[in-house]
Amino acid sequence: MTPLDYEFLRKLLKERSGLDLSSDKQYLVESRLIPLARRAGLPGIAELVAKIKGGSDALTAEVVEAMTTNETFFFRDKIPFDHLRETVLPALLKARASRRSLRIWSAASATGQEPYSIAMCLKQMGAVLTGWRVEIVATDLSQSVLEKAKAGIFSQFEVQRGLPIQMLVKHFTQVGELWHLNADIRSMVQHRQLNLLQDFSHLGTFDVIFCRNVLIYFDQDTKVGIFERLSRMIEPDGVLVLGAAESVVGISDAFKPYAERRGLYRVNTERAARAGVSASMPQVLKLVGAR
Ligand SMILES: C[S@@+](CC[C@H](N)C(=O)[O-])C[C@H]1O[C@@H](n2cnc3c(N)ncnc32)[C@H](O)[C@@H]1O
Repeated sequence: MTPLDYEFLRKLLKERSGLDLSSDKQYLVESRLIPLARRAGLPGIAELVAKIKGGSDALTAEVVEAMTTNETFFFRDKIPFDHLRETVLPALLKARASRRSLRIWSAASATGQEPYSIAMCLKQMGAVLTGWRVEIVATDLSQSVLEKAKAGIFSQFEVQRGLPIQMLVKHFTQVGELWHLNADIRSMVQHRQLNLLQDFSHLGTFDVIFCRNVLIYFDQDTKVGIFERLSRMIEPDGVLVLGAAESVVGISDAFKPYAERRGLYRVNTERAARAGVSASMPQVLKLVGAR
């Protein structure tokens, strides 16, 4: 790949998906895009770039998708889901007792393991949620991962990663070598395509937002902007959950970490109040123990 073609692709990916590639990732781009070029009947990256420059929107979208990293698994990192089950959901059940509704967003949901893990946690709560309106919204930039997520069909390898055996037996049906997620869990999740670089305020506000293992691919300014916009989409007593390698600390003061709850953040209501966003912010979740 020529340096000029690499620069063109780097800029395109940054603009379209936020992917911030350093100057030495030619091998990564080649390993993902040479197979794509071949499938499109093109000899190599130079011809792929020429076709994109010629205005092929479909090919551009395919390039952006091919460069996304969709690695995920059920109950990834375990601890955030333990917090969800043991402290966050019980606290929200109390706080929302009169309105009896909960909204949870998985903001880079990949092939669905994350939103379905959330759905299984909610299912475990049992009868206490009877009569509640519970929404789990799963969004991703990539249409192909969303299609796989919607189908809810996973390989033996996929269900072996992170999913406790009791949950596999309870919520999946084996069909040949594949595992089909049962309809009651599948129907708890709504899937939509959404690019985090674009406006997402139309989704409304959420009690919990999982935004995990996607911000690591973005540069500092992009992260700051997304934290800012996420902070306007989350209830003042809601929870933001980030990935194990991600943090707001040193990047944005829109959120504050929950003490002793690694990976969990709350809206910085003090900052919002100073900015005059709300005169009467509700108390943050007591059970989670805000710092
Ligand atoms: C590594 S996966 C993380 C999946 C899941 N959240 C987890 O932690 O297991 C990252 C996902 O972010 C998606 N993604 C990348 N850029 C995005 C963007 N600009 N907007 C929305 N999703 C994006 C990718 O398509 C991919 O499915």
